Amino acid sequence: MSKDHLDELPSYRDATRTWIRHRRKSRFTRLLVVALSAYLAFGVYRIATNTAKPPGTLSVTKLRDNHATCAKLRRIPSEIEASREVNKRWVNGTKPILIRNATIWTGEPKAGTSYEDARLGRSYEWVSSDVFVDNGLIQKIAPSISIEHLPHGSEIFDANGRQLTAGIVDMHSHAGLDSLGNLQSDTNELSSDITPFLQSLDALDPLQPEIQWIKSGGVTTSLILPGSGNNMGGEAFVVKFAVGKQNGRTEISQEDMLADPDKNWRYMKMACGENPKGVYGKYGERGPFSRLGESWEFRHALEQATEYVNSQNDWCAAADTNGAEDMTTYLPQELKWESLGAVLRGQVRVNTHCYTIPDLEAFVRHTNEFKFRIYAFHHAHQTYLIPEVLKRAWGGTPAAALFADNMYYKVEAYTASDKAGKILYENGITPTYVSDNPVLNSQHVIMEAAKAHGNGLPYHVALAGVTSASAELLGLGHRVGKIKEGFDADIVVWDADPLSAGATPVQVWIDGAPQFKDPVALKKPTTPPAKHDSVPNDDVEMRSYENVVFTGISKVYLDEAEITHDESVTAVIQNGKLACIGTCANELALAHQSNTPIIDLENGYITPPFTAFGSTLGLVEIDAESDTHDGPPPKEGVSRAVDGLAFDGKQLARAYEHGVTRAISAPSTFSIDARGISTAFSTGAKHSLEKGAIWQDEVALHYPLTLRAKGDKTPSISSAVGLLRSKLLQAVHDVSANDSTSTGKEAYEEKSYLKRVVSGTLPLVLSAHSADTIATIIHLKSEIESVIKETDTEVTSKLRIIIIGGAESYLVAKELAAADVPVVIAPLRPYSQSWDQRRSLTGAPLTNGTAIDILIDAGVLVGISVEEVWETRDLGLLAGIAYANSEGRLSFKNALDLVGANFDTILGLSKHDVGLSTEGRDWAVWEGSPLEIGARLRGLGNGARAVVWQKS
Ligand SMILES: *[C@@H]1O[C@H](CO)[C@@H](O)[C@H](O)[C@H]1NC(C)=O
Ligand SMILES: *[C@@H]1O[C@H](CO)[C@@H](O)[C@H](O)[C@H]1NC(C)=O
Ligand SMILES: *[C@@H]1O[C@H](CO)[C@@H](O)[C@H](O)[C@H]1NC(C)=O
Ligand SMILES: *[C@@H]1O[C@H](CO)[C@@H](O)[C@H](O)[C@H]1NC(C)=O
Repeated sequence: MSKDHLDELPSYRDATRTWIRHRRKSRFTRLLVVALSAYLAFGVYRIATNTAKPPGTLSVTKLRDNHATCAKLRRIPSEIEASREVNKRWVNGTKPILIRNATIWTGEPKAGTSYEDARLGRSYEWVSSDVFVDNGLIQKIAPSISIEHLPHGSEIFDANGRQLTAGIVDMHSHAGLDSLGNLQSDTNELSSDITPFLQSLDALDPLQPEIQWIKSGGVTTSLILPGSGNNMGGEAFVVKFAVGKQNGRTEISQEDMLADPDKNWRYMKMACGENPKGVYGKYGERGPFSRLGESWEFRHALEQATEYVNSQNDWCAAADTNGAEDMTTYLPQELKWESLGAVLRGQVRVNTHCYTIPDLEAFVRHTNEFKFRIYAFHHAHQTYLIPEVLKRAWGGTPAAALFADNMYYKVEAYTASDKAGKILYENGITPTYVSDNPVLNSQHVIMEAAKAHGNGLPYHVALAGVTSASAELLGLGHRVGKIKEGFDADIVVWDADPLSAGATPVQVWIDGAPQFKDPVALKKPTTPPAKHDSVPNDDVEMRSYENVVFTGISKVYLDEAEITHDESVTAVIQNGKLACIGTCANELALAHQSNTPIIDLENGYITPPFTAFGSTLGLVEIDAESDTHDGPPPKEGVSRAVDGLAFDGKQLARAYEHGVTRAISAPSTFSIDARGISTAFSTGAKHSLEKGAIWQDEVALHYPLTLRAKGDKTPSISSAVGLLRSKLLQAVHDVSANDSTSTGKEAYEEKSYLKRVVSGTLPLVLSAHSADTIATIIHLKSEIESVIKETDTEVTSKLRIIIIGGAESYLVAKELAAADVPVVIAPLRPYSQSWDQRRSLTGAPLTNGTAIDILIDAGVLVGISVEEVWETRDLGLLAGIAYANSEGRLSFKNALDLVGANFDTILGLSKHDVGLSTEGRDWAVWEGSPLEIGARLRGLGNGARAVVWQKS
């Protein structure tokens, strides 16, 4: 290419010069506007610009277009749409459908209910009815709609009495912005902190499989936000998850997914606090480095956008007065400030990621300084502490878009409360529940609402928090989020109460089109909705007694057999131990005489307490803060978790309050991928010297074999497996040579632990998700075992290998069973968050069961663990989900064992080792099923005393 040719191209510098000139002009204009009246300003402006651009060189057509644009700039999005004959998203040809015999949550109280009663949830109820859908709209809700009068070709879906709700609306998702297995991400544009001009839609990939998975959880509509790396991240878009012909659309297209084809409202994502600071703060180089800098970034951007809007308004006012043709400049237009300008014009619904009081209150100031409205603070973990500050936001009180109990993961989240939703609602702030997919799997965002309900938020508010309230915050409340005549036909029929453990859609409709061709329905009995008005009393105090009595116990699961009592029974605790369960007449009489506290329960349960295996409980307090961790495993050799345990943290307290009294943790900074020796301890202990605090110093040897195994020493999975193989072979050699190096300090060296592994006395726990890696492990096991057999030792030839993770383990379920390798599933419901999990089963209605079902069918011994430490409080609930969706594979007792007794078997712990109490059984007393939403722990055995949560 010749140099001459290159010279003809406009240079980048030309473009910047134009830009600077334009900027100078608009700043000049702004000064004049401030100083003079609008008219005078216009006159001077005209003179000033006349000198810049001689008259007569402007296109009249373009000036007229500019003037037409003025009308658009002034447009205020309409709140209420005129009643519709047809849903604009409807695809002509979609068959009308009659859904018969549904139990419907309409999302509204009965007509005529007062505001006060509605807030209290009165006259919200489930109604038995049919629903007729046509033209993409809910046409009719009535009991027994006759088939005769339906249009020709109508389809019929029999709901068989099952629960029906509006499609779930997740107002914080990044679905479709990352590719499968998180290989590629288009969530954050991290080139600059202020990027209001970006559009998430530009990156949305309609073919990402997660879109179908998420929808299989009943989610029909989502706000797809850019990430929170930037203070101003860019524009967001509300989409519906119907893609292409298979979902009843005519084409595969980003635009076709827009929930509102009219694009009435626009949306924008902003973010405060740790994230932008962490991305941009480069010492001495660039900001924002602190929250001080962040607020300046906001103000500086808003100031420039204000200036831009003013210059446009001036132009439009002048064009109105003098006629567009007489204008001597074009309408000022700059793509960079167009979106933020629209925010200031009230055309954009701003959603901001802010956690803490400083962030929230500074942002409330910004709304008042620049007069724009914030619709919802997201994450918002401290909003519950400052409802009155939120009410001072300009233009209206923002909502709080929350997680139910995902907290403590960073400093900003360390003051969170699982009562936040309840407290906010009581103080006049709307809580909604979101996934921040992929942070949580949006497929199960309904569980966030369910857990919030379990934590005291009224049923109707919790369900509204993923349907109507979210739709309203998106400006779609007049057509999305309720089951109401004239609304978009986005409908879910559930196989159980939607706010119960494991509730799963049977079918999902978007704009009246069924989304699943041959949906798998779990075999569940049709059950009536939960009693939605009862939330357990939460005003409890934690007390400690030697002796206490519980009455009202209906279910006892302490022994092999489960005992269900028709008439409730009594449990008498003496010296922290269960002394009697039953009528206990003598013990009761004694208790009365000695003024022993008696705690009356409704629907009481007694179970063994739960065990958290393979989490970082006791080793990680705040995930994002290394000072709060024990720290990563050493580069060479192994360490013992027992030497780094830290007691008395919030993570442990929450686990304990949810019945997780025992934890087995191994050195790690990220969950299941540990390296070193795990220890078993009591989550309720104050320190390690307390009696019963450590109940087994050394439980198992752990190594990672997920993608996280790739590191400096082992850059590949093959080298990590190779290193493990050579260590194990060396250990076999050491044992057979009777190399007696297992005394003194050598006892704590990796090779001694490996010798115990090959001698069959120490379990080996390997993290792995990929079915291929798991197959390799099974092969390695038999390889080592046959070498052991050939050696002339008395040691057992059985290696006790345990897989933790296991997203794809179901693919080799039979082989795992044959090799006698147990699997600890973590997470219970994987969603292909890494490439080695890409074949995860997401469950009904898309897949016939999930990994755990197939493992159980194959006879594999299974436990349930979690990836993130905050989730340990939900272990009971996770077992409940496995139970509810097991189609009878699991008894209630089996389900409890998934987070309890199975670990004793898997790890070969003797009953004696496991007890918190030195004699007798461990016990936990609950009000409500510990496997369901809303269960309350009321008592725990703790050595010679009982810890009791007593109503105050
Ligand atoms: C749908 O298509 C049919 C056949 O082309 C046509 O008769 C009908 O008017 C269309 N309906 C609407 C609402 O556009
Ligand atoms: C509705 O479903 C329930 C539960 O399956 C059934 O008992 C009832 O008979 C059904 N009602 C009608 C009208 O079909
Ligand atoms: C190993 O050596 C110890 C003494 O160091 C001895 O007591 C034991 O019998 C030996 N075991 C085998 C299997 O040779
Ligand atoms: C699901 O799998 C189970 C057992 O693996 C089988 O019995 C059942 O027929 C399957 N159901 C469907 C709908 O394929």
